[in-house]
This record gives sequence, C-alpha cells and structure tokens, in this order.
Amino acid sequence: MAEPTPQNWRLTDEYLSETLVGHDPQLEAALAAQRAAGLPDIEVAPVSGKLLNLIVRMSGARRVLEIGALGGYSTIWLARGVGEGGNVTSIEAEPDNAAVARANLDAAGVGARVAIRIGRAAEVLPTLEGSDPFDLVFIDADKESNTVYLDWAARLGRPGTVIVLDNIGRTGDVADADNTDPMVVGTREGLRMLGSDPRFDATALQTVGLKGWDGVAIALVV
Ligand code: DHB
Ligand code: MG
Repeated sequence: MAEPTPQNWRLTDEYLSETLVGHDPQLEAALAAQRAAGLPDIEVAPVSGKLLNLIVRMSGARRVLEIGALGGYSTIWLARGVGEGGNVTSIEAEPDNAAVARANLDAAGVGARVAIRIGRAAEVLPTLEGSDPFDLVFIDADKESNTVYLDWAARLGRPGTVIVLDNIGRTGDVADADNTDPMVVGTREGLRMLGSDPRFDATALQTVGLKGWDGVAIALVV
C-alpha cells in the first residue's frame, strides 16, 4: 500500500485533477499569468476550484460574493458556475492582484459577470448592504478577519445562503489551542463562530493534496 506522504497526496491530487478536471487552457493561462506577475501560489487547487464551481451549481446560486480574489483563479471557477445570468462580486485588497484578476477574468470570457471591488474587505463589505442577498459566499482572505467576514456573510445573505471558508486545516495547527499564530487563532475563531453562532449550521473537511494539509468549512445560513 502507498505511504501517506505529502508526495503521494500530491500525486493523487494530480491524478484526480487529470481525471476529473482535465486540461483547461483558460485556467492554466490564468495561473501562468498569476505566476508571471509574482503572486503567491496560494490559490485553490484545481479539484477545489471545481468543488466551488459544483457547489455554486448544486445550490443554484446566481449571486456570489468572494472575499479575496488574489489573481482570479477561484473567481473564474465561481463565475463559470453562476452562468450567463449570474454575477460575482469579488473583493481584493491589493490593487496589483486585482489587475491580474481582471485580466484573467476577461481572458477567460467571464469578465462581464464579475465586479472586482478593490479595498480592505472590512471596508468594502458594509457598502454592499442594501443590494439583493448573496446566494453563496466564498471566504479566502486574511484569516485574522474570518469572524468579521462570516458575520458579513450572514448579514449579506439570507436563510439558505451557502458559505465556504477556505484554509481551515492550517497543517494541523488548527487543533492546537495554544498556537498563537494570528492566522491559526483567526481560523479557530471562525470555526468557533460557525459551531456556536445560531445563524450557521456548518461542517468541515480536512484535505490533503497539492497544497499539503488543509481543509474547507461549508456552512448554511439558517
Ligand atoms: C494562505 C492563504 C490562503 O488562502 C491559502 O489558501 C493558503 C495559504 C496564507 O496566507 O498562508
Ligand atoms: Mg485559501
């Protein structure tokens, strides 16, 4: 039997990506552009991008909010999911990242259905109040602010809104209550909120793969 090593997680993820996601020139071009621009390679893995796309389609989401666009890789997956009549609002704090994301979305043919809002999410989110509720919110930004983002996701959503929160595993550090890394503390705070705040019903899945040991939480606004 194969050993449960990071190398084998990676090989298995590559096999799953090849088998179930396949060759995708638009997404590969987006990744290449993102790398060329010097963005960190912390975007979601292909199988996770496709998971986002499937959750959007399974839930019938037409209005999607993303917190943390980076270079737009996950945004492309979300924008494909909402279809031609849908729209994605994606918040990105770094103007340089937002420019890469904009170019990638346009090149992928989904630019017209995505609005990128440049700024700190904590400042942009209140400006979204008063619009129609979002059907799905993908949170993938600074982990220190997870509780702020979850609160806004509930406020800008409705009963039935789906929330996906990235990076809940943090290489296992998330299980360590004594860990003082602000990203770990923020991740734990977010999970505590998902488990105790009556607005949410949630679970989480650990993942191993291309990105190592991590995971994703999935919640319903009730
Ligand atoms: C980090 C952030 C992410 O969203 C991710 O998927 C992986 C790592 C980080 O900031 O370290
Ligand atoms: Mg992430």
